[in-house]
Amino acid sequence: MTLAIVNCSQVVTLAGPARPRVGAEMGQLGVVAPGALLINDGKIEKVATDSEVKKLIDAGCEVVDAGGRVVLPGFVDAHTHPVFAGTRVDEFEQRIKGATYQEIAARGGGIQATVSRTRAATVDELVAAGKRYAAWFLRGGTTTIEAKSGYGLSLEDELKLLRAIRRLDQETALRYVPTFLGAHSIPAEYRARRSEYVSLLIDEMLPQVAQQKLAEFCDVFCEENVFTADEAWRILSAARCHGLGLRIHADQLSLGGGAKLAAELGSITADHLEHTDATGIAALKAAGVQPVLLPGSVYALGSSHYPAARQMIDAGLAVVLATDFNPGSSPTPSMLTILSLAATHLKMTPAEAITASTINAAYSLNRGETIGSLESGKIADFVIHDTGDFRELAYFFGVQHAWQVYAAGKPQIPQTKSG
Ligand code: NIG
Ligand code: FE
Repeated sequence: MTLAIVNCSQVVTLAGPARPRVGAEMGQLGVVAPGALLINDGKIEKVATDSEVKKLIDAGCEVVDAGGRVVLPGFVDAHTHPVFAGTRVDEFEQRIKGATYQEIAARGGGIQATVSRTRAATVDELVAAGKRYAAWFLRGGTTTIEAKSGYGLSLEDELKLLRAIRRLDQETALRYVPTFLGAHSIPAEYRARRSEYVSLLIDEMLPQVAQQKLAEFCDVFCEENVFTADEAWRILSAARCHGLGLRIHADQLSLGGGAKLAAELGSITADHLEHTDATGIAALKAAGVQPVLLPGSVYALGSSHYPAARQMIDAGLAVVLATDFNPGSSPTPSMLTILSLAATHLKMTPAEAITASTINAAYSLNRGETIGSLESGKIADFVIHDTGDFRELAYFFGVQHAWQVYAAGKPQIPQTKSG
């Protein structure tokens, strides 16, 4: 029942006020060094210095020697699209040869290509593919992901994706927080009558999703040639009436007013924000919207237009980092890769990037009370990383640092003989 993790060079607790961290707080990680943890029944019982915890160990307690490694909360990845059929590796090659993401989308590729394949897949096939990705997330030290639908774009297909997400949550150790993203793209058959698709979203899909409790959040891709700010406003207002929290893909490829809209609607997050200007940042601040920054998609699209993370932190926004895992613009499940990109391109310190990937991400998913930090009473989702200094997680890049990953106190990586 009881588990002790001892001899940790650093336990990076993220303990602090019960709210997302802003400004200088983002650099304060509440490190206990050397530290240890006591876990009971899948929950954290105590986090303290190594010597204090060792005094509490009794005969029935399983003891894991962390061997001078660091312990962090499991990463909380607050923006992913993890349920889809096939890949888009062919488009990846086209982009290498010069085609842009928007050009490929305009000729029927992009999201539409994944939609066609995903519609043809059964729930079982989607769950099987999703389990492979779940293993990747866990192996990388991520224990919770926000998971969007959005590759179905019809009532039945969107419900199919959300049911696949529910099954993945039940059948894997990864925690999934479901988001309805029926407004990811106008499907090909509605191109000439887009207002009918918006009505379908509002009048049929949202009521079903809410009634069947298949999602906690609703998201809209607000972008030139996708959903206008006006359409996004209508869809998200309807979602709010159904009790869903709001998230928005905003200002990713152009400045389309998505950040402003997020502020007006009181959205919990505004995601991407590569083109958001000072006015947008001020609006997010005034409304308490959390920015979710996705440097993986900027990198993978071969762009250098990264979001203005420093200005956002300096303005007092509770910044979140996420992978945006998807088959088109960001095919990575690795939060460690995101930490590296955040350091090199967003000029975030390793400590700020860790705050953005754990406690701030948890609050953006309404999970701040249960995950995202190592404090008594929280779920025992934590990772022993094979380094003695947490800053090395962002510094040595391309390395699978996680040595053992615990979800609700249960180890997820089979140990080799050498340990
Ligand atoms: O967040 N921006 C819209 N959605 C995804 C891309 C999805 C895809 O290309 O399949 C994103 O980048
Ligand atoms: Fe996305």
